[in-house]
Amino acid sequence: MATDQELKELVKEKYGEIAFQSKEQNETSCCGSGCGCGPSDFAVMAEDYTKLSGYVADADLGLGCGLPTEFAQIRSGDTVVDLGSGAGNDAFVARSIVGENGKVIGIDMTEQMIAKAKKNAEKLGFSNVEFLSGDIENIPITDNTVDVVVSNCVMNLVPNKQKAFAETYRILKSGGHFSISDIVLNGELPANVKNAAEMYAGCVAGAQQMDDYIATIKNAGFVNITVQKKREIYIPNEILVKYLSLEDALAFTKSDTGIFSITVYADKP
Ligand SMILES: C[S@@+](CC[C@H](N)C(=O)[O-])C[C@H]1O[C@@H](n2cnc3c(N)ncnc32)[C@H](O)[C@@H]1O
Repeated sequence: MATDQELKELVKEKYGEIAFQSKEQNETSCCGSGCGCGPSDFAVMAEDYTKLSGYVADADLGLGCGLPTEFAQIRSGDTVVDLGSGAGNDAFVARSIVGENGKVIGIDMTEQMIAKAKKNAEKLGFSNVEFLSGDIENIPITDNTVDVVVSNCVMNLVPNKQKAFAETYRILKSGGHFSISDIVLNGELPANVKNAAEMYAGCVAGAQQMDDYIATIKNAGFVNITVQKKREIYIPNEILVKYLSLEDALAFTKSDTGIFSITVYADKP
């Protein structure tokens, strides 16, 4: 059983490797041993960002599993924080909504992701988007200062999800809210999938049961918790057979266990 710190190092290593790869490379090479990151799953999970206002192709590494900015009710002038901002995909979309009077702060613990996001912001000449290196379990932002938090396919990678949602609560203003896209489970994963490092980095093995996820949010003090979107994710057999016999992979596919992308909203009272 890996420790929380070991899981974080694994995540940093894998996302450090893919930070400077293109979306296409991530989608095609990850099925092989190319980048070793395992998120061939992302090609299955990611949604189409290209039509969204503020879309920046260089920031889109194909790593998301929803469109949280579409559900986050962001307003002009808001201060928005994107937890696990990667190369800045959601942060740049949020920036186009908050406008010149608002502010967007991306937080990521992988230095290569922060470097790539900063480079993207510099190229575009944006002064109201900032990327800070930091851990979601200890967010480097002052209490009660944020209007909206978004996050895309990240909380499943955070070992202590209760702490992550407590930190989300701490930085939000009273009356603020979040909209977070993430992976959750309904039923148990086979042990070989659950214990595979690549399936952890690929946003599957670290996912919580859906009911536990909602309970974690509630325990952090949030109210009006609403699942805004739910979509089942199917992991192709060619990925499953890396961890399971063909027979077990087929049995898993037919089982009641479901892997879901959800977008969930909640208010801080
Ligand atoms: C699946 S990628 C998603 C990136 C981005 N949200 C997107 O949709 O393109 C997960 C990101 O979360 C970051 N991450 C994972 N755990 C984190 C933690 N505990 N603190 C800060 N960042 C974290 C990783 O470094 C990585 O950039």
